[in-house]
Amino acid sequence: MSSIEMSGDGATVAVHTRSTTYALHIDAAAGSLRPVHWGSRLDLAAARALPARPSAHTDTFEAPWEAAEDYPAQGSRRFGAAALGGWFPDGSADCELTVVDQRVDGDQLTVMLTDTRQPLAVDLHYRPVAGTDVIERWAVLHHTGDAGIIDLHRYDAGAWCVPPRDDYRISHVTGAWSAEGLVHRTALPVAETHFTSRRGVTGHHANPWVMVDDGTAREEHGEVWSMALAHSGSWRITASRSHAGRCAVLGGAGHEGVRHRLGPGEAFTTPVFAGLYTGGGFGAASRGWHAYQRGHVVPHASELRPVLYNSWEATTFDVTQEGQLALARLAADLGAELFVVDDGWFGARTSDRAGLGDWTPNPHRFRDGLGPVAEEIRGLGMGFGIWVEPEMTNPDSDLYRTHPDWVHHTPGHRRTELRNQLVLDFGRADVREWAWQWLDGLVRDTGAALLKWDFNRPITEAAQDAWTGHARGVYAVVDRLRAAHPQLRIESCAGGGGRVDLGIMARTDQFWTSDNTDAVDRLTIQHGHTQLYAPRSMVAWVTDSPNPLTERVVPLPFRFHVAMTGTLGIGGDLTTWDTGELANARRLVAQYKDIRPVVQHGELYRLRDPRETVSAVQYLHGDRVVVFIFQVGAQFAAPLRSLPLAGLDPTATYRDDDTGDVYGGATLAGPGLPVRLPGGDYASALVRLTRLRT
Ligand code: DGJ
Repeated sequence: MSSIEMSGDGATVAVHTRSTTYALHIDAAAGSLRPVHWGSRLDLAAARALPARPSAHTDTFEAPWEAAEDYPAQGSRRFGAAALGGWFPDGSADCELTVVDQRVDGDQLTVMLTDTRQPLAVDLHYRPVAGTDVIERWAVLHHTGDAGIIDLHRYDAGAWCVPPRDDYRISHVTGAWSAEGLVHRTALPVAETHFTSRRGVTGHHANPWVMVDDGTAREEHGEVWSMALAHSGSWRITASRSHAGRCAVLGGAGHEGVRHRLGPGEAFTTPVFAGLYTGGGFGAASRGWHAYQRGHVVPHASELRPVLYNSWEATTFDVTQEGQLALARLAADLGAELFVVDDGWFGARTSDRAGLGDWTPNPHRFRDGLGPVAEEIRGLGMGFGIWVEPEMTNPDSDLYRTHPDWVHHTPGHRRTELRNQLVLDFGRADVREWAWQWLDGLVRDTGAALLKWDFNRPITEAAQDAWTGHARGVYAVVDRLRAAHPQLRIESCAGGGGRVDLGIMARTDQFWTSDNTDAVDRLTIQHGHTQLYAPRSMVAWVTDSPNPLTERVVPLPFRFHVAMTGTLGIGGDLTTWDTGELANARRLVAQYKDIRPVVQHGELYRLRDPRETVSAVQYLHGDRVVVFIFQVGAQFAAPLRSLPLAGLDPTATYRDDDTGDVYGGATLAGPGLPVRLPGGDYASALVRLTRLRT
């Protein structure tokens, strides 16, 4: 049960999640919210009795509350990282907040602060999300005056203070195009460490979440404090570890050097910066975030995501009606449920050099438009999906020739082209209206079941507000489209996984995880993706071997098994697959449909990391258990170790659906599941177990 308790004098608040408590003391006069606990359940009386984290330093040179406040505003005796900072209309940069009210309304705590002199009011919001261990936090900043600008350079949602520990370690991901989600787990220096995107989009290079532990947590053991930001524009997260041994993590929109200007009467609502504590290690932290996403973020979480076919790797820009339909017939025969026509169907788009922005079907490729193709695909028993990249234009396009002013640019400066394209300014109402008109028409005309919404370059040369405002403009168009077409589903893509975050996740149905479809690389990429994001969000295609990007030759079952750990797709050139491969693929698609509820709705346990010789993931849903085992390279003819499973009932009995072997739950959890793999490299296995009910 999530709930919020507040003491009669309003000085102590306990925010309870399903199994944790976040407690704070409110010092009204100091305008300070001082967290006293973030961990296992604690009642209000116990929270009230806790001392506010004491200042280790009383000397004049220190900031006594550094890394010990929920919303440190720049000014006064605060020398650490600020959640709020800027210049006021009178030129001053000093902020002095006092608490004017604190309220609990249902499932939400709101603390209201105002500056004693400046025209600024701040509302801090806390919402424990029902049935989960996540607390959502955000702030609303108001200009309460009638003149002048408040010029903000930092406007975070809040600061999460991690309880004092002897040491701190931080986990996060870095990456690049085709190499997203590489997990790092490193000691947190006594310093301010910034994680950021200056690209106007979430980015491949990093992702807006971190996890903090004291250096001893493991996959299924130990305390982990994690934070994630729901925003798809530029972002920053600062992990501040003070000399006094405290740690706070601040997060919000924007990046350094970019301002948000608040005019009289205006307000700015920050993105949500959510936090989750667990005592069960990194695995439990991931499962906590996945449960939150399935229950509260993903729009249609109870649906099963369809098996899709996507034509990109098979045809690239060489898209024709006949070619797509030939692939569609083969895909339908394998059991695909959705067929996605990728880039190259419109305007002069026969390469990446032209056509973006001219969203009418190419008449040389689709003589009667897309309607008949969509119909034929539906006739084959599949939904019709189509690729779009609404935020972009090629300079060689009719759109750009007509509206050169619609792109982000700085008058007089060079317009940086990347992949021969420029970014349309979705902060502009006329651009959003144009995008809405053609997207609405496309969905109506084709009856599209899915849009693959791509974004293939970062933003450059943008005005101040665009680094946050562009993403909000995209949200507005997506929200309008979804409202008008309730049956429409959207795949979020940005050259693979360049726009994966909780903000876009709330308004789309799946992510294109990476342009890297090599099954071996995917083990690492998908390991990184699922640290925070639910497996159902992770689209994974089975493509050709050798892989077009890495040239690695990997057998079909291994490629399928890797893709079956998320939302399965097929992306190979099926016209080149022989009858044996097609028959094998048909069997594996059917197997995926059998285990799909377990993978998409179940709980993920990462049993063995992809860096190990034999790695494994397990899914648990109701009475069913699914285990995938992978051995990339056989070594030393070493005997295969049994695999202890997780989360099972030790008193129950489980039967292997394929072999009929029966195991006790305690045996599977202790000695483990016997591992049987075909010999050689790139060996994999899928094990399906069902709990027996007597
Ligand atoms: C990048 C995407 O990640 C690919 O899957 C494909 O859609 C291309 N863009 C098309 O240009």
